[in-house]
Amino acid sequence: MPKITLKKIKPVDKNYFAKWWRDKTLLKLTSGILKPISDKKITKYFLAILQSKNDYHFLICADKKIIGHISLVKRKDNWHETQIIIGEKKYWNNGYGAKAIKILINKAKRLNISKIFLEVRPTNLRAIKAYEKCGFIKSGVKKYPKNKFLPEVLRMKLNNTLLKTK
Ligand SMILES: CC(C)(COP(=O)(O)OP(=O)(O)OC[C@H]1O[C@@H](n2cnc3c(N)ncnc32)[C@H](O)[C@@H]1OP(=O)(O)O)[C@@H](O)C(=O)NCCC(=O)NCCS
Repeated sequence: MPKITLKKIKPVDKNYFAKWWRDKTLLKLTSGILKPISDKKITKYFLAILQSKNDYHFLICADKKIIGHISLVKRKDNWHETQIIIGEKKYWNNGYGAKAIKILINKAKRLNISKIFLEVRPTNLRAIKAYEKCGFIKSGVKKYPKNKFLPEVLRMKLNNTLLKTK
């Protein structure tokens, strides 16, 4: 098994994001918005990631190969939301996603982050399974009736005993 690590994102990494944000298979599992995204928007969203002050964004690496993106974004009431994409699809189903999430949880612990949740498409069984392996528990369904691409999501919360330091 390759060594999974989380690495700081640099300006030269933009093309990975451009590729992943245009991959229809990935889009169907995430936002559901298949309309092609312009270069301008890619630059805008990538710069927002690079420059964000309150949030944490990392590349996921398998040995030296860059395979994905994982983040922890500050939300209200001391909650943080995590999102993950293994953009290189041949790396799916090998435990790398779960490993990356566990590394992120350890980082969160050191940062004194005490509450983590996520939202996932209810049909994305692979993702739900990976999250459960890391200690996330289903906490309910949230409806977004105005979002025709993703009208409802499953919310999952990290069992917070996993975030307590001994
Ligand atoms: C979701 C994602 C991060 C998970 O990472 P991963 O490395 O593929 O996942 P893991 O191998 O750690 O775990 C997946 C588990 O789901 C299981 N699984 C795969 N397909 C499944 C299915 N259709 N139904 C149920 N379980 C399934 C796998 O067997 C594995 O469980 P196991 O370890 O007990 O065998 C990755 O697949 C990905 O980026 N997918 C595309 C983007 C995406 O969906 N992101 C999440 C948006 S919320």
